Amino acid sequence: MSLSTTLTINGITRTIELDDPRITLLDLLRERLHLTGAKKGCDRGQCGACTVIVDGRRINSCLALAVSHDGADVLTIEGVAQGERLHPVQEAFIAHDGLQCGFCTPGQIMSAIGLIQEGQAGDDPERVREAMSGNLCRCGAYRGITEAVLEAQALHAASRKEVA
Ligand code: FES
Ligand code: FES
Repeated sequence: MSLSTTLTINGITRTIELDDPRITLLDLLRERLHLTGAKKGCDRGQCGACTVIVDGRRINSCLALAVSHDGADVLTIEGVAQGERLHPVQEAFIAHDGLQCGFCTPGQIMSAIGLIQEGQAGDDPERVREAMSGNLCRCGAYRGITEAVLEAQALHAASRKEVA
């Protein structure tokens, strides 16, 4: 049986033939499209290293079947910078040392972008920690991660006020 799925990934629409209908979105991104920013940590929905944003919502791509997201809009870590200009969340992670080995970082950043878009970050560190609790960091860089998310959220809120 030959199947295909059409996805818009980081603004580029492509139709991909699938040999196996069971392929996950994570494996499609990494193995077929060579977008290796999303990481395979646990492969069972427990670490968040594979987080990407699909149709505006952050998901664990290791648990998502590619075929079931036919027509979706997918944003991965490779698509968040504008050319040489980093995304404000990326800049905040650097400024606050929100990483050590970097393995969890793409997932942390995608999750942070997602939660800021969801408007649930606020300025409460506890809420940020709760909203980021699906993203584990073995290096324990949580303090910097929380500070980075708070700063990026504050910048986002300020830019929205300017526009209003
Ligand atoms: S690799 Fe997907 S949640 Fe761990
Ligand atoms: S920075 Fe190493 S796992 Fe998070």
